[in-house]
Amino acid sequence: MVSISDHNSSSAASPLRPGMYTGTASYKLENMSVADEVHPVINAGRVAVITGAASGIGRAAALEFAKLGLKVAIADVAEEKLNDVGKQLVHQIGEANVLVVPTDVTQLDQVVRLRDKVYEAWGEVAVLLNNAGIGAKGTSWDGLDNWHKTFNVNFFGVINVQQTFAPSMLHQENQAMIINTGSKQGITNPPGNTAYNASKAAVKSLTEGLAHELRSQPDSNVTAHLFLPGWTYTGLTGADSGSEKPTGAWTAEETVLYMLDHVRSGDFYILVPDNETKREVDQLRIMWNAADVAEGRPALSRWHPNYKALFEEYMRDKLAQLD
Ligand SMILES: NC(=O)c1ccc[n+]([C@@H]2O[C@H](COP(=O)([O-])OP(=O)(O)OC[C@H]3O[C@@H](n4cnc5c(N)ncnc54)[C@H](O)[C@@H]3O)[C@@H](O)[C@H]2O)c1
Repeated sequence: MVSISDHNSSSAASPLRPGMYTGTASYKLENMSVADEVHPVINAGRVAVITGAASGIGRAAALEFAKLGLKVAIADVAEEKLNDVGKQLVHQIGEANVLVVPTDVTQLDQVVRLRDKVYEAWGEVAVLLNNAGIGAKGTSWDGLDNWHKTFNVNFFGVINVQQTFAPSMLHQENQAMIINTGSKQGITNPPGNTAYNASKAAVKSLTEGLAHELRSQPDSNVTAHLFLPGWTYTGLTGADSGSEKPTGAWTAEETVLYMLDHVRSGDFYILVPDNETKREVDQLRIMWNAADVAEGRPALSRWHPNYKALFEEYMRDKLAQLD
């Protein structure tokens, strides 16, 4: 049996121990390692489509793509805010390179309209950032309406966009990529918002399937990527209240720069750190979670009274081994 909990023998190397990466405390432009101009997809003149682009991570991605010289189509249900982002983009790259398409991703006809507008204008999509999301709360036996809302946006919204765009993207000659925004919460399932966690677990499953199906397709030039932001200060996490960014959170710009750097390197799982959680900590938490299944421990043992101390010891020992 493979064990990653080393409470019996903290010095034993685990076969599941990852090649540890020394985390990044923050992500600034100077940390980027791959030159923009060499990448075939994220490159000047190509086309980016971003859902959830009126705010937070989607907005920051739109501005960054524009900075890199891509044409940018932005979609969101929040029309007024979307128009404001559109104005900023027009100022940055000119009207001919910007499409502002108010879109509710839960409505397939609106998503089809978005695709048609983009292909009519520019004839291709290089990067599809399938990013719109909400955090409506649903617990195990409460909040049924919120369960529906959350799955409609976070899961069926992603499927609507993926199914509408993927066939057209597969017909293109140029390389392209689909980036779905998931969440670490869809992997480690922390108590608090089961509806959100479950919707993001479904996005993980969906995107892994997409990656496999794309690479199994003869002559496919499209890759899939699962974007797992860390704690990012956005509308979803309090930025709309006008409060100051908590020190533990990254800005949306930092998260986007990290994502772009790793997408350029060809990573499928883009596990983004923040100022509070470095990458090694995420890796260990994910492995602990997987070991619940593999070792037959109780569900979410990390938060189980009988396992809490063991988990803390595991983290302490494993992190100490890295120092
Ligand atoms: N902020 C974080 O810490 C964090 C962490 C992990 C994952 N995420 C994910 O990142 C993505 C972006 O979120 P964010 O943090 O930038 O939050 P945000 O609230 O700032 O942005 C989300 C955007 O999605 C839009 N949206 C909501 N429903 C929509 C719909 N039906 N159709 C079209 N657009 C819709 C909203 O209007 C909003 O502009 C989400 O999928 C979220 O789950 C965020």
